[in-house]
Amino acid sequence: MFVKEFEVKDLENYALFQNTLFGFSEDKNYGKYLIENFSLDKNQILFIAYSNELVVGAIFIRIKNFVCNIDRLDVLDDYRNLGIGKELVFVVVNRFSNSINRFDLLVSNCEKDARVFYHKIGFVDNGVKDNAYKMTLEIKKEEVA
Ligand SMILES: CC(C)(COP(=O)(O)OP(=O)(O)OC[C@H]1O[C@@H](n2cnc3c(N)ncnc32)[C@H](O)[C@@H]1OP(=O)(O)O)[C@@H](O)C(=O)NCCC(=O)NCCS
Repeated sequence: MFVKEFEVKDLENYALFQNTLFGFSEDKNYGKYLIENFSLDKNQILFIAYSNELVVGAIFIRIKNFVCNIDRLDVLDDYRNLGIGKELVFVVVNRFSNSINRFDLLVSNCEKDARVFYHKIGFVDNGVKDNAYKMTLEIKKEEVA
C-alpha cells in the first residue's frame, strides 16, 4: 500500500474507488460522469491510497492560515482496519509539517465510528458546531518524522 497526491492520471482509478464506495458499481455512466466532471475546489488537495492497482482510500484537505481542514476521509469497506486511514492522515501531517500547526475537522453525529477512529489517532474533541463534533490535532513539530 502507498499514499500519493492525486494526479490527473489517477482519475480513472479514483472514479472506480468512488463507484465502489457509493455502491454504483453497476452504473457505468456514473463513472463516466465522475471522470468528465471531476474537479478539486480551490485550495483543496487530494491524497489517495493505492493497494496494487486499486485506489482504496482518499483524503481531501484544505490548508489556510496554518490550519489543515480534513474535508473528507474514506477507506473502502474491504480495506478498513488495516491502518490505511491512519496512514493517509499521517502522510499529510509529514508532508505539511512546516506549514500547518493544527488539523481541524467536523464529524457529524451519524459518523460515530469516525469519531472513535480520530480519537485513536490522537485527535481531541474541540466543541460542537451545527450538530457535528469539532475535532483537533495539534502538530508537535519535534515529533514529526
Ligand atoms: C473512519 C475510517 C476512515 C477509518 O479508516 P481505517 O483505514 O479503517 O482506519 P485505520 O485502520 O487506520 O484505524 C486506525 C485505528 O482506529 C481504529 N478504528 C478504525 N475504525 C474504527 C471503528 N469504526 N471503530 C473503532 N475503532 C476504529 C483501528 O482499530 C485502529 O486502531 P489501532 O491503532 O489501535 O489499531 C473508515 O472507517 C471509513 O472510511 N469510514 C467511513 C467514512 C467516514 O466515516 N469517514 C470519516 C468522516 S470524514
